[in-house]
Amino acid sequence: MAQYISASNGLEIHRLGKQYANAQSAGGLIQVLEDINLSVSPGQFVSIVGASGCGKSTLLRLILGLDPDYQGQLLLDGRPIRDTGPERGIVFQDHRLFPWLTVEQNIGVGLRNAAWNKKQKQDLIAEHVALVGLEGFEKSYPHQISGGMAQRVAIARGLVNRPRVLLLDEPFGALDALTRSRLQVELQRIWQKEKITMLLVTHDVDEAVFLGDQVVVMTPHPGRIHRIVPVALPRPRSRSDLNYLRIRDDVMSDFTDQASEQTPKAATCASAN
Ligand SMILES: Nc1ncnc2c1ncn2[C@@H]1O[C@H](COP(=O)(O)OP(=O)(O)O)[C@@H](O)[C@H]1O
Ligand SMILES: [Mg+2]
Repeated sequence: MAQYISASNGLEIHRLGKQYANAQSAGGLIQVLEDINLSVSPGQFVSIVGASGCGKSTLLRLILGLDPDYQGQLLLDGRPIRDTGPERGIVFQDHRLFPWLTVEQNIGVGLRNAAWNKKQKQDLIAEHVALVGLEGFEKSYPHQISGGMAQRVAIARGLVNRPRVLLLDEPFGALDALTRSRLQVELQRIWQKEKITMLLVTHDVDEAVFLGDQVVVMTPHPGRIHRIVPVALPRPRSRSDLNYLRIRDDVMSDFTDQASEQTPKAATCASAN
């Protein structure tokens, strides 16, 4: 399990809100995120699960520092996030590799602004090629490797600059089921080895529970946290473990239980997927 240390160390999200301009809304604004509160300790793995349009990508954009226009507080190690920085890396659903660069050159893109010398950069790239299991493919171009391998390159590029936090926005969403479950196991191993904070956004409940120390369930319109489910299971995890299945079914019930309740269910926009 990850270490839980002082709350001011790590990522603190307090009463976070986000509005976008929207011509169809009263006042010309639409509230996309509202009253998001979350504490992420250094080294924790947090999964954020919710249907399309819940504001998951918006939340990661704010944490990455791409948009300083938000309400509430967003603090990393006690400092407000207002801009991008080398202590935060991101992996997207589409790998966004440069087609004219090799695997190792693409990973090296993550070191563009780093202060390391050439030898140190080469060593870091080699270390991260090994970390994601791509030895032998250093000189390959993106069109010569599979989708799963390209996502491994994207993960290596996100990690090579040694960020404190790695943000993952549906990183396996475009992969087939088998590759996806293999890469989930790989990501678990990488996270255990690197011991950095990871925030994974997904609409796959199974993936969220398999990987997370906690699973944040979001509801839409506006995007809010419905509940946070702790997953205190040892790693490496097994998908046939009864405790795992119990937690997975519990989280899944937020998306499938249509019983009338006062609390809006996460499922309300699940059909949008
Ligand atoms: N740049 C933008 N301008 C206006 N509305 C946006 C913008 N980006 C996202 N939205 C809206 O915000 C809501 C949340 O989007 P997003 O964060 O992409 O959700 P998710 O990642 O959970 O699918 C959606 O209704 C989307 O249409
Ligand atoms: Mg998204």
